[in-house]
This record gives sequence, structure tokens and C-alpha cells, in this order.
Amino acid sequence: MITLDKLRDDWEHLAERDALWAILTDSKKAGRKWEITDFMATGESEISTVMSYLTSIGCLPDCEGVALDFGCGVGRLTQAIARHFASCVGVDISKQMISQAEALNRFTHCRYVASSDTRLPFADNCFSFIYSNIVLQHVPRHISELYLREFVRVLAPGGVLVFGVQDADLTGFFVSLLTRTRQILRIRSRVKAALGLSAGNMQMHCLPERAVRSALGSAKIVDIQYTNTAASDFNGNLVYSEQAPAGGCVGKQYCVVKQPRSFDRAYTKKPDARPAGRRASAEGRSISRTEQLNRLGVVDKHDRDV
Ligand SMILES: C[S@@+](CC[C@H](N)C(=O)[O-])C[C@H]1O[C@@H](n2cnc3c(N)ncnc32)[C@H](O)[C@@H]1O
Repeated sequence: MITLDKLRDDWEHLAERDALWAILTDSKKAGRKWEITDFMATGESEISTVMSYLTSIGCLPDCEGVALDFGCGVGRLTQAIARHFASCVGVDISKQMISQAEALNRFTHCRYVASSDTRLPFADNCFSFIYSNIVLQHVPRHISELYLREFVRVLAPGGVLVFGVQDADLTGFFVSLLTRTRQILRIRSRVKAALGLSAGNMQMHCLPERAVRSALGSAKIVDIQYTNTAASDFNGNLVYSEQAPAGGCVGKQYCVVKQPRSFDRAYTKKPDARPAGRRASAEGRSISRTEQLNRLGVVDKHDRDV
């Protein structure tokens, strides 16, 4: 069983060798060839895409609040998030990553924390926005499930959680029992070849939707998008897609809201039976409060009684 200590040691090793390439594994950039300005620009572009998407589905978080970037690496996304929020925190398992993030920090309202515990070092209900991309795909399923519970714990009521995972789309494909059971893809050889590692090991883990739903508990999944994060040419250029690839590993981004307690009392949940990836709502227009409530999966009590 892979432990958090082993994960931390792997990432310390990767960060020492070439942190930027360990984060965005473009084969042309191996050997410390990433230019820092190009690298950080991918973060600006990704967060801009995410904020436009959140606006389009009527789910923009409270920007006066505190944002958390989980698995922040050297702060590629954290620095971009900090431009949108009153304050921002990046947390990472690797102290090496955190010290490089601190060196690149341009904002006094942004800080970084190293943590290698499944219990996040934050109080309940303190973040208005939590973002995590290309992180949980490297974390074994049983540990990812603990982190999802933690995200819900530290998210403020009404707060927005957006995270990416890899899932296995099995439609039309015969997948062996072993593959289904283990759901682990190893890209060890590619990483070893590029970094000359003997011990370092970057793993890929899938997290199926049923496991995500169970770990999120009462927090509401507002939308799920397919993304290109499983593609070998991802390189920080986030693209949403209505359709899953024909089969195999697929990036999925979840948008989740922790409902205010008053919502629980005043509204009844409406189950969403539509299949994943068909809930896209990127019309790029503002939506009414009723529509917004529908998308949050709650039905106005008055409407329901009519
Ligand atoms: C591929 S990098 C992505 C970094 C950042 N999210 C980005 O997109 O620029 C994965 C990061 O997740 C961190 N990480 C891996 N496991 C973690 C864990 N259990 N807790 C916190 N951070 C973790 C690694 O140290 C690494 O910095």
C-alpha cells in the first residue's frame, strides 16, 4: 500500500530534480527547459478559463473570501488565483515545492504551507473557493477520498470547490477485472527516462464518479466537465469537452457547492439523473436565481408546491 510518506518522498525527489517539468511534463521541456514566464502564463490562462466557466454556470465564488490551491506545486495556479481573491493559500506535500513557490510569490495576500497529513491544517468552513488540478490523479484512491472529505470540511457554506481527477470511461471497451480493480496507470518509465530517476515514481490513479459522490457527502455536485488533463499534450492548456474520449482514461472536473444550512432547511434536493459530461452549462450568459437554484440541485419550495 502506498503511503503519504512515500508520496512525499517521491515529490521531494521530483521537485529537486526539475520541479517545473514534474508539474507539466512536456517532453520538449525536460532537463530544466521550462522558461518560468511561459510556465506561469499557463496558470493565468487556466484560472481565467475556470473563472469564465464558473461565471457561465452562475457559480462564481465569493472573491472577498479566502481561496485554497490544493497541491500547489511552485504556485503556477496559486499566483493566478491570488489575483482574483482577497487572500489565497497554496498547500503542498513537498517542502521543496513550497520553498520554490515562496521564491516566486508576488503577493503579500498569498501564502504557502507544506502539509503531509490527510487532515488539512485549516479550520472548518474557512475557504470560499478551493481549486485543485492535476493533483489527485497522483494520489491513491483511498487517500483522495479522505482529501475530498477534508475539502468539504474546510469549505465555507456556499463556497465553491473545483477539482480535477482522472476517471476510466469504459463504454464499449472490455476492461480486464485486474484493470478495473486496481485502476492505476503507471507512467514510471517516461518519468524515469526524462529525469534519470532510480527511486522517484510518478503514478496515475483513477477516481470513479461513485467514489467522488460518496466522499463528498451532502455537498452538491453542480456540474461535471470532461477535460483534456489526461492527454499527453495537456501542458497546462485546460480545455473542456462535452464528449468523453472513446475509452480509457479521461479527465473530469467537478464543480461542487457546499450548501448553506438554511438551504437544507428551506429547499428539497432534486436528484440529477443526467449522465456525466452532459451537464455542461457553458452558454456564456447570466442565469436567473431560479435557474441557479436548479443547477445547485435544489427546488424552490414554492415552485415545488405549485
Ligand atoms: C503535477 S503537480 C501540479 C501542481 C499544481 N497543481 C499545478 O497544476 O501547477 C502535483 C503536485 O501535487 C503535489 N501533491 C502530491 N500529492 C499531494 C498530497 N497528498 N497533498 C498535497 N500535495 C500533493 C505534488 O507535490 C505536486 O506539487
